[in-house]
Parts: sequence; structure tokens; C-alpha cells
Amino acid sequence: MIVGGVKKENGDLETMLPLAEYENLHTEPLIALDMLIDCQEFAITMQKYELAFRRWGQDHLDKKRFGLPLINLNGQLSDNPDVSLMPLDVYNRDRKEQLWDNDFITATPALNESCFDVLEPIKPYLIRSCILKWYTDSLFYPHIDTWLPSPIIRLWGTNDPKNMSLRFYSKHTRSAVTKTESGELIQPEISVEEASKDLVRVENVEAGRLYLIDTAITHDAHAHSDEVYQFFIALNSNSYDTIRKLKA
Ligand SMILES: [Fe+2]
Repeated sequence: MIVGGVKKENGDLETMLPLAEYENLHTEPLIALDMLIDCQEFAITMQKYELAFRRWGQDHLDKKRFGLPLINLNGQLSDNPDVSLMPLDVYNRDRKEQLWDNDFITATPALNESCFDVLEPIKPYLIRSCILKWYTDSLFYPHIDTWLPSPIIRLWGTNDPKNMSLRFYSKHTRSAVTKTESGELIQPEISVEEASKDLVRVENVEAGRLYLIDTAITHDAHAHSDEVYQFFIALNSNSYDTIRKLKA
């Protein structure tokens, strides 16, 4: 099943969400959406896929980060390593043929599990997405995931908010580079490095809830227990109207 890569009327692939629409959508770092995964059903389903989790990235192996692809390059769960399960800036380093989130559009069998039926409204827009499985002290260092205009709309969630800490730069100023219509690059007011000195944990995250996340703001994540899952989901820009409705 091919789910991503929606085309414009002229046949070009629709990829970027304009800055004004990005700002209209991302009014806070984390916004609850009307999609809730049943955590019990999810946990039982994940047991079935225990052997299909692969390492996330090839660096920081001590951080014990693993992923189960929902959308990858070929729809198979047998790739090891699976190139959908790594930071793409690392993958693309020194490579002529680069891969970006929009290049991953094929659903794996895991997406068909009934615990993910609640994702139905966003399935047509899914691009590179996975379930992350972390252990005590697994982490993502402070970073941003996108630039503006944005090639992705990212959603996030966890089954265990008590043991999964997500932090954003306290002032919520974005650290992403903005490209103007004329192609000029505007540097952000604050660098990721500066913003990472002042990160604040998000409270009141609901288990199983899917959130719209502003990953142009510097953020990091830490797990405080074993077998903590995160929903790591990217959508193409054609999901804009659907996400606006799911915010309400
Ligand atoms: Fe991120």
C-alpha cells in the first residue's frame, strides 16, 4: 500500500508547507489531536513485533534506541539496518542520492494492526514513520527536525508519559532556518546550541494521545524506564486541512 507522496494538480509532488500555514497550525509546541491509541491493545500488538524492531541509527549504540517501521522504503520489516530508522541528515552525509521523509511512502504490515485504526484520517498522508522503543536512559540530544517552509508535519505521542520526558526550549522560539520565496535563507534568532541550555519538560501528556509537535523548536527526549514507546509520525503537507480539523 502506497500512502504518501500526494501530487499537485500539475503533477509535481506537493512537499512544502508554507510558513504562514505552518505558523497557523503550530500555535504551541505540543497540541493534542483527536486521535487516541488504546495503550493496552498497542502493548499486546508490540509483543507480536518484538523481533522486528531494529536499531535507530548506527551511532550512540549505548543509547539503546530501536524502531519498528510503519512507513519505510519497501514496506518490509526485514531490512537490517532499515534506512528509515536513522537521522536522515546523518544518512545523507557524503551521499549524492539523498533520502528525505517524503521518499518513504510504503506501509509495512504493522500499520494494518487494529491498534492503529485510529490513524485512519491521516493514513493517506503518512510518510517516514515508526514506533520507537526505548530503554532507561535512551535519549535524543537537543535538535530540530525541520526547516521552514516545512517538508513535514510531525506528530508525536507515547504510551508511558510518566517515564518519557519531552522538553522544549522554554521561550518556544524556533531554531529552524527559513527560506524566503526568493530563495534567501534567514537564520533563526536562536541556535539549537543556545536553546538547548534552557529546556523545559512538557507536563500533562496523555498516554496514547497523538499530538501535533512543533519540531522547529529545539527539543530533546529521555526515557526513564525500559520498553517505553513513542509514536514517531510524519505527514506530508497535504494533511494540513485534516490536521486542522483534528485539533478542534
Ligand atoms: Fe525531534
